[in-house]
Amino acid sequence: MRVSFENDYSEGCLPEIIESLQNTNYEQTHGYGLDDYSIKAKNKLESLLNVEPGQVDIHFTVGGTQANLIIISHFLRSFAGVISAPEGHIATHESAAIEATGHKVLTIEADSHTGKLSASELSEYLINYWNNPEPEHTALPGMIYFSNATEFGTHYTASELTKIRDVADQFELPIFMDGARLGTALMAEPDQLTIDQLVNLVDVFTIGGTKNGALFGEAIVFTNRKYNLADNFRWTLKQRGGMLAKGRLLGLQFNTLFTNNLFFEAAKHANQMADLLRNGFTKRDVKFWTETKTNQVFVVINSEQKQKLVDDFGFLSWLQLDEKQMSEFELEYSDKTYEVVRLVTSWATEKSQIAEFFAAWDKAAN
Ligand SMILES: Cc1ncc(COP(=O)(O)O)c(C=O)c1O
Repeated sequence: MRVSFENDYSEGCLPEIIESLQNTNYEQTHGYGLDDYSIKAKNKLESLLNVEPGQVDIHFTVGGTQANLIIISHFLRSFAGVISAPEGHIATHESAAIEATGHKVLTIEADSHTGKLSASELSEYLINYWNNPEPEHTALPGMIYFSNATEFGTHYTASELTKIRDVADQFELPIFMDGARLGTALMAEPDQLTIDQLVNLVDVFTIGGTKNGALFGEAIVFTNRKYNLADNFRWTLKQRGGMLAKGRLLGLQFNTLFTNNLFFEAAKHANQMADLLRNGFTKRDVKFWTETKTNQVFVVINSEQKQKLVDDFGFLSWLQLDEKQMSEFELEYSDKTYEVVRLVTSWATEKSQIAEFFAAWDKAAN
């Protein structure tokens, strides 16, 4: 393979992170997230969020699946479930990690192209739930989950989040926003959401390092609007294996990411490289499964074309179009099959790699 667009975690990490690990290698620090680098990273994040010291609760852990299951199981009571879009990461790609903690993932209707939860679907689901005279026979909706960016590379605007917030408040439910790819969502133009707006819009969110230039790591932020979600969180973090003895490795990485805007610049670069992919596909009249502004691009291509590229370029097959979906895209139902493939750019993607891809595309198309 010459170039991979399979993921944003195919490379190692930003050189600044290697440098910070190298420079501090012989330092001795406290363990389990109590080291000075973790404290510095938290302080920097507090100023990015425009909050007073201690106003929000910040923790670090290793991976996204782990963060999701720890946060959700920490808050939910034994009979409660978590609401998600059917395409939500916890519902589709986490080996029933949430269910293994004893909590059902309650999937509700969502747009199958954007993968986004909408305030109206959420409200309808919750009204129906509470209209049931015997709701206690089913899992209690106890939390709302969605990811931003979503699994389809789309992102939420402040106004969409405010509407979801209103429904959540009406039903007294906390919102958990999975930010494994938060950087690219925040840098997606237009309608940019700023990181400090999240303090009032959601109750807990993660900030993904793994997919945005760190070696690994997710920050967890409890905004403490209400619900006391963060109470005793370190106990759950420890119990579920999410508290690293060498927590300094997480602190150091986030401290570096939150210095000189590195976190945002890395995501901006990934989005800009995805813009080049989007422009290239648009020029060639290739259709998009959904419009995205982040580092994930979903396009509809015929399988013949795909076959000519797969040896040299990495990308994911996402779904095979059925007859109905083909007519939606005004594609003739013929001997050609069509599928949606996903291409992802990262902090490390180079312009030349995109040019190489389209040169091969054009050659294959002729
Ligand atoms: C939105 C989202 N959440 C969570 C995860 C899980 O992260 P990890 O692979 O680090 O467990 C991913 C991974 O792709 C993701 O895209």
